[in-house]
Amino acid sequence: KRSSLDTSTANTALIPALAHIKVHPLSRFQRRAAPFRQPAEVGYFSYDASRSLRVNCDSALKFFHPPPLDGVSNNLSSGFEDSAPIRYIARASVVENLDSLLATLKTTSDSQTSLLTANDRGDGRPRFCTWRGIMTKILTAPYSSDTWELRASLHKGTLYIMEDPLISRASDGFSETDRGKKMTYWGYRFEGLSTLDHDPSTLDPDALHAAEVDRVQTGVVDTHIQFCSVIKTRIGDHDIFMGAEVDCLLPNADASSAKQQPSESTSKPATSPSATSKLRQHRYVELKTHRKIQSQSQNSSFLKQKLFKTYFQCFLAGIPRIIVGFRDDKGFLTKLKEYKTLEIPRMARNELQGEEGGAWDPAVCINFGEQVLSTLWKCLAQRNQELCREGEVEGWQVVYRVRMKNGSASFDGRSAGSQSRG
Ligand code: A3P
Ligand code: MG
Ligand code: MG
Repeated sequence: KRSSLDTSTANTALIPALAHIKVHPLSRFQRRAAPFRQPAEVGYFSYDASRSLRVNCDSALKFFHPPPLDGVSNNLSSGFEDSAPIRYIARASVVENLDSLLATLKTTSDSQTSLLTANDRGDGRPRFCTWRGIMTKILTAPYSSDTWELRASLHKGTLYIMEDPLISRASDGFSETDRGKKMTYWGYRFEGLSTLDHDPSTLDPDALHAAEVDRVQTGVVDTHIQFCSVIKTRIGDHDIFMGAEVDCLLPNADASSAKQQPSESTSKPATSPSATSKLRQHRYVELKTHRKIQSQSQNSSFLKQKLFKTYFQCFLAGIPRIIVGFRDDKGFLTKLKEYKTLEIPRMARNELQGEEGGAWDPAVCINFGEQVLSTLWKCLAQRNQELCREGEVEGWQVVYRVRMKNGSASFDGRSAGSQSRG
């Protein structure tokens, strides 16, 4: 028995290409969207400044509080080059596996989410476990020219999809330039300038003022710190468990905060994680920055690119609001605008009416995603069975490659690695 696969040509021959799904013509996916189940949070976790995982802890969840737009403290570059003290701690760009998501899923009480009992479920529905960013890549492919490569493995009734740590994140090189690095910082700095650690509605005026001054003058951008929601949803007949970063929470208007106090979060929460999730999921907010829009063509590209991808990022995770901070070329915030996630497709359709190509159709994206998932499932289930019968390897030890290039999604076993690598 072979214990693992490597990238040699012998193994390329062992697992030939399994399937291709072409994006075009889009008309193949233009029909009523496959059923999509409202995403429900089943758990959450935080990463702290040392990137340590805290399961069912919301210590990294921040509260939205409007940023200043005064012409001075609205400078998104502030802190970028400070060295004493340092105000920008950037996490090295490494691809992470699914460990934190799995650790959180293991603690959920809902038997439907217990990956350990996958074989006993009996409903026979394909089940997927991945990051929200990966699902966004798949669903937005019909209207994007991005190329990407993922790894997939089917084990005990769950199909896991991960990024390939051996393949660096697709980059046009811009984010490595000085300008690109600064613009990346602007995105993170906007998050820092638009949030507070505590619910502002619970702070007295002096404490609120101190927190506002603090975030402008001494706020540190540390990209290790993140809050993630763990979500269960369904596309067509496919259950999907996803981890998704959530930027912040809208303050509670009636001041009864849904965020637990730190002492409760780190020990035993007073409210169970699932009860907390139901209370606050509808208050989640995604923050984005974008260059201020000064022409019709800039508005079109905002709707077709940034807002299109942000829509799916939020739609998949059940995040109902997007707050965009518009900025000038020097990185000063000029305006805030809130978008309701579910209103975006209609808005894009109206505003892009009559333009060449028109708007993107969310049903095309959902149906394309549904087809990718079902084909991937069928291919891997069948191939795993064949490999088992041939006695070559245990099927689940094989990690398959999923590629999107030139408008075609393809699945194969090349570059496959053993389970031990991930
Ligand atoms: P913007 O998207 O506002 O530019 P997210 O919006 O997904 O929460 O990400 C927050 C910020 O992280 C982004 O802000 C951007 O600055 C940075 N970022 C995220 N993904 C990136 C990528 N692939 N390359 C460069 N920067 C990225
Ligand atoms: Mg974010
Ligand atoms: Mg964001």
